[in-house]
Amino acid sequence: MTGTFDLNDWCTQHLQRVEQALDTWVSVDASSDLAHAAPADLMLAMRYAVLDGGKRLRPLLVLAACEAVSGEVVEAALRAACAVELIHAYSLVHDDMPCMDNDVLRRGKPTVHVQFGSASALLAGDALQALAFELLTPDDAAVPASRQARLCRLLARAAGCAGMAGGQAIDLASVGRPLTEDQLRQMHQLKTGALLQASVMMGAACGDATAQAVKALQAYGAAIGLAFQVVDDILDVTADSATLGKTPGKDQAQHKPTYVSLMGLERAHAYAQTLYQQALAALASSGLADTRALQGLASLMVQRSS
Ligand code: IPE
Ligand code: IPE
Ligand code: MG
Ligand code: MG
Ligand code: MG
Repeated sequence: MTGTFDLNDWCTQHLQRVEQALDTWVSVDASSDLAHAAPADLMLAMRYAVLDGGKRLRPLLVLAACEAVSGEVVEAALRAACAVELIHAYSLVHDDMPCMDNDVLRRGKPTVHVQFGSASALLAGDALQALAFELLTPDDAAVPASRQARLCRLLARAAGCAGMAGGQAIDLASVGRPLTEDQLRQMHQLKTGALLQASVMMGAACGDATAQAVKALQAYGAAIGLAFQVVDDILDVTADSATLGKTPGKDQAQHKPTYVSLMGLERAHAYAQTLYQQALAALASSGLADTRALQGLASLMVQRSS
């Protein structure tokens, strides 16, 4: 490990690359095929859902994990970073719809269905999901076919019925029902943890990680993935809408089981800290030379105010 490390500088630099890539790839100009095929209104809703907002934690995790295993950000990692963010953005669009959480504010703006209508929101989510996999499968030689397949598999599993979509189904089925701690952990691991953990594993899959590093990064991803949703539950109770960019107090109003409803604010805070320590311990066992960005992101994820 050489030189000093400034997390703010690191984030600024990497965010710039992510924002620019998203702006380029979620665009009718991205390829001549898309330019002919994509109706302008649908692309408008897709860009509204993805651009101008969002902490981009998942893309940053992809890039940090890739750097940790290979020392640089390769093209596959930038594609993977954007692909994960597109899946995340799609999940938010659908999560906010009247048939799910019925939210009107997201990232400080009216939600996609409020702005464009429910049918457009549904389709924008569908199209973002498809675009994510298109990004992972460039038809030039930029990313070897075996790496493309591995990245697709990691993302598909984390987004599907054994990941985000499955967790969202449990979330909706649990309204008004108290869950045990095990059940709540499983729900959170699926609906939120899976995609965050996949971000880390996709970054690792862009380089040649040792088995020891893969195992450690898996444990790191699981810990921060769960911690992230514990903090989301806390912020729903403690933050105001201007800071949060979404309407607070929704979980209690909609009778959602959360870590705050299960264990109260203080114990939920303490649990997030425990998970953070677990994440750091996992990194320490990774054998990787420089995990400072991954450490910093873990800290950001539990200390965030929005
Ligand atoms: C919000 O995720 C939804 C959850 C999975 C809890 P983020 O807090 O990462 O949302 P953005 O991307 O920054 O808006
Ligand atoms: C959503 O969890 C997780 C997703 C898969 C989108 P929440 O419903 O708690 O997310 P927010 O609070 O609306 O961002
Ligand atoms: Mg929800
Ligand atoms: Mg919600
Ligand atoms: Mg929430």
